Amino acid sequence: MDSVFVFDHPLIQHKISLLRDKNTNTKEFRELVSEIAMLMGYEVTRNMPLKEVEIETPVGIAKTKVISGKKLGIVPILRAGLGMVDGMLRLLPMAKVGHIGLYRDPETLEPVEYYCKLPVDVEEREIVVLDPMLATGGSASAAIQFIKNRGVGSIKLMCLIAAKAGIERIRKDHPDVEIYCAAVDEVLNDHAYIVPGLGDAGDRLFGTK
Ligand code: PRP
Ligand code: URA
Repeated sequence: MDSVFVFDHPLIQHKISLLRDKNTNTKEFRELVSEIAMLMGYEVTRNMPLKEVEIETPVGIAKTKVISGKKLGIVPILRAGLGMVDGMLRLLPMAKVGHIGLYRDPETLEPVEYYCKLPVDVEEREIVVLDPMLATGGSASAAIQFIKNRGVGSIKLMCLIAAKAGIERIRKDHPDVEIYCAAVDEVLNDHAYIVPGLGDAGDRLFGTK
């Protein structure tokens, strides 16, 4: 699966274990999601292009490098994707942030859109879509399609736990999109929750259940 990257870094794996634990409280959960997003963001941005510049130091001229090329945008899928924004912005403070609001209809399990606000120059940016959970893949696939409809050519998907079914869905609907995740789980239950997963990411982030 060359378009799927699973992070095996010990720090990420350790924090994912804490995140899965049902005894982890809302405050800890929120901090962990943010920390993991930052650690993953470090790798997701590994291929950003650089250009050479000359910088005047107090003792001379340094030929050195700065990031060049397309600017980045991040797009959390509401609600749970919001938990990953802060960690990414710590690495990329100048990134623009779009928002796509989707919830899964509990009966049909299909994503329903309720909000979409993207940066005005979104088509000039490389976009990273954020959502902790990739279950059936319906929400992420719909979000990616909204962004493509706005003319964006370069999109990555960053999630924490991905079910195999969700990965397959994205590979089928959007073969051009690379998927970055920290764990791949085998199955979904009858309500399309990832098993073992971590439960409802939005509720655990915001303490709504
Ligand atoms: C969760 C999650 C994803 C979606 C994943 O959101 O954050 O967006 O479900 O499921 P899928 O891959 O089957 O589409 P949810 O619909 O629970 O909304 P919330 O973030 O507002 O809680
Ligand atoms: N959304 C969640 O928050 N958790 C799941 O396991 C599946 C969808």
